[in-house]
Amino acid sequence: MAVHELHVSIYGRHAGVITRSGGKVRFAYDESYADDNGATPLSLSLPLESLEHQRRPVMAYLDGLLPDHVRVRSRWAKEHGVTEGDVLSLIGAVGLDVAGAVQFHTDPTAAQPAGGLRRIDELELEERIRHLREDGADWAAGDAEASWSLAGAQSKFTLARDGDHWATATGSAPSTHILKPGITVLEDQALIEHVSMRALSAVGLDVARTEYAEFGAEPAIIIERYDRRTRHSTLRIHQEDLTQAFALMPERKYEDKGGPGLQQIGQLLGGIDTEGRDRFADAIIANYLIGAPDAHAKNYSLLLVRRSAMLAPLYDVASGLTYRKDDTLRFTKAAMSIGGERHFGAVQPEHWRKAAKNLGVDAGGMLERVRELAGTIPDALRDEVERLPHEAARQRLRDKLVPAAARLSADTLESLATVRERRWAEGRAAAIAAAGPQPRRGKGLGGGQFMRTPQPPTTGTLPSPS
Ligand SMILES: Nc1ncnc2c1ncn2[C@@H]1O[C@H](COP(=O)(O)OP(=O)(O)OP(=O)(O)O)[C@@H](O)[C@H]1O
Ligand SMILES: [Mg+2]
Repeated sequence: MAVHELHVSIYGRHAGVITRSGGKVRFAYDESYADDNGATPLSLSLPLESLEHQRRPVMAYLDGLLPDHVRVRSRWAKEHGVTEGDVLSLIGAVGLDVAGAVQFHTDPTAAQPAGGLRRIDELELEERIRHLREDGADWAAGDAEASWSLAGAQSKFTLARDGDHWATATGSAPSTHILKPGITVLEDQALIEHVSMRALSAVGLDVARTEYAEFGAEPAIIIERYDRRTRHSTLRIHQEDLTQAFALMPERKYEDKGGPGLQQIGQLLGGIDTEGRDRFADAIIANYLIGAPDAHAKNYSLLLVRRSAMLAPLYDVASGLTYRKDDTLRFTKAAMSIGGERHFGAVQPEHWRKAAKNLGVDAGGMLERVRELAGTIPDALRDEVERLPHEAARQRLRDKLVPAAARLSADTLESLATVRERRWAEGRAAAIAAAGPQPRRGKGLGGGQFMRTPQPPTTGTLPSPS
């Protein structure tokens, strides 16, 4: 049955109602909720300062909670008896456990399914992952009581940790983890995502925790949800992704499809979380250095707690450097432009400087972070690969991922060093010209070659390239 009224609760409190009438969709906060200083907005695009909001930001927010994978949506529509493309009704069916601390109810007076945890053993997990690998659209397979949704195009399902066991969260119960089998057509994809995220965490970035597991023959990455916090019980923390924050539909997640780029995101973060803007700059650098092609606006989120918003930990970070076609890199570009350049290996100091300007951060500081991360990420990746328990996988990544990432970082460092050397050489030339004619040097001392092969300074006596 089509839903015309969706009741929205945030952090367990009734916050407002989304209604649809004659094609018009609107969201109205409860006045008592919006007036409360402790209230959290549903989205930055649905601020509490206005009680009523019209269609565009409401639909962008709701649509952004659902899978990007159209076949998953149509399957869910069929399973729940709603019309394909009817986002309100779909959210009404799967909206008890979604990204963040929001829950949707179609009838607030009816008893809500309290739900709980149903343990799932390793054999069942193996079976479910195998089934998902065979039928990539069946995300909620065999889970009749499921009422969860997550965005993204890749196969996945939610899990909850129950002591030492894995469980399925049913009804209103919060899941705590996300399991992804990885992209089948890309070798070792789940493993590479795990290693990429671990390596960035090792160099100091704030990244969601992951583990890599094999259930029988089925590999998977299991990601801990940072929007859940478990002490005695599990609480939800509110979040939204950047397309939702900008009131954009999910299909605009890539910058070249109309999604936000560094300038818009820098401006947004500059107004709410300047420390988060620095972390975002780090994320742009790190995603570039590992050749991650998919860091689009739905792969960055904001945590929303009362009236404050901050950049969430990083997730869905994976290098694409091991995938080649006819001996050329298959994924050649970053998702967002870095000062006008996206190709891996082609970003030069002037692009980093422009990117810093777009973001609103200090250019010298950003170049310094490029240098630091290019110096540390290759070792961190190698260490994570060496830590893997399976020798065969370790060897594959040792042979492919580690050298490819080391090369990209080395090229990046070289592009920065070139500027440093050029400036140093120019400085020397100016100093020599100012000092007047020099005595001729003997050949053995380098003679006229000196200026063509300058050595970089070992101390900071010359202006840094930034
Ligand atoms: N660790 C996490 N904690 C909380 N929420 C998360 C976490 N990881 C992912 N999410 C949420 O789940 C969504 C889907 O996850 P993810 O981005 O990993 O899926 P994906 O299908 O690989 O995405 P894509 O389509 O970008 O490839 C994210 O957009 C985000 O809202
Ligand atoms: Mg994603």
